Amino acid sequence: MPRRMRDEESNDSPLGRGKGRQALGWVMNWGADPPRRCAPPLRGGDFQRSAILSFTRREFIWKAGAGLIGGAVTTGFYAWRIEPHWVEVVEHSLPVAHLPAALVGKRLIQISDLHVGPRVDDGYLMATLDRVRDLRPDLLAITGDFVSYRSAGTLQQLDRVLSHLPRGKRATLAILGNHDYGYGWSQVIVADQITARLRHLGVVVLRNERCTVDGLEVVGLDDFWGPHFSPQKVMSGLETTRPALVLCHNPDAVDRPVWGGYRGWILSGHTHGGQCKPPFLPPPILPTRNKRYTAGEFDLGNGRRLYINRGLGHLIQVRFNARPEVTVFTLDRA
Ligand SMILES: [Fe+2]
Repeated sequence: MPRRMRDEESNDSPLGRGKGRQALGWVMNWGADPPRRCAPPLRGGDFQRSAILSFTRREFIWKAGAGLIGGAVTTGFYAWRIEPHWVEVVEHSLPVAHLPAALVGKRLIQISDLHVGPRVDDGYLMATLDRVRDLRPDLLAITGDFVSYRSAGTLQQLDRVLSHLPRGKRATLAILGNHDYGYGWSQVIVADQITARLRHLGVVVLRNERCTVDGLEVVGLDDFWGPHFSPQKVMSGLETTRPALVLCHNPDAVDRPVWGGYRGWILSGHTHGGQCKPPFLPPPILPTRNKRYTAGEFDLGNGRRLYINRGLGHLIQVRFNARPEVTVFTLDRA
């Protein structure tokens, strides 16, 4: 009996010998044809087939590896250089109860989270603001995080970017975000300086305040993480029978018991859509306590609806499956 035959049939090996070693040999050969019991000697045709299979397997491994590396490099380049500047214009209806006839069909454009500073390209922001002007907003709403504050130079940089800021035909409204309060979200002087610059340009900055635009009440809340979040007074003064809209940078604020009898829309930003979102999965990093609040529309119940804009800027220059966004709302009567 040939030696190979005895090894395969022996049962005193640590692996159960014969069959165990045969299985191990098959695994080590990564799926190669298992040795046959009492295999006949290779003929010429068998040798050629074995050589072809071996070559094909090597070629497959090489191509698969090259494909994986190429895919990772391409995806990384896209997420770094393409998507952070690839703005999506999202159209959405905005039905408001008791909306005055003068505002039905008018265009409210929301932009958010510009993050002027060292990480976002000024040219990209200015070109995007020019594009918003071409969309001819009737109302323009900017929902916070104008800057990623580093120093006084950031405010000079903001001045240059804001020189391209379009104005709404009927109003240009703004609220502040946590980054507009500088380091630790606590530098009130930075928030005041940004507010002054915006007001100088004719922007209505609402800090726990409200204004009326052609009969529509617009409330703007100060930032939820900042030192001046105090919505109770302005919200309690809102008549529920009047058409209204609320601007609130951080969507987590909608879960706080500060809304009284308000029924209507709340427009937010802050999340950047998570910046990187695997398909069909939630983004792994989201700066909210309520991880449901990623981007887009949410029904909060009791007549409140939330819309979260993905913003224009970023904290680090990477976006995947979360393109920067300009939201074009068409006002309608609910
Ligand atoms: Fe932001």
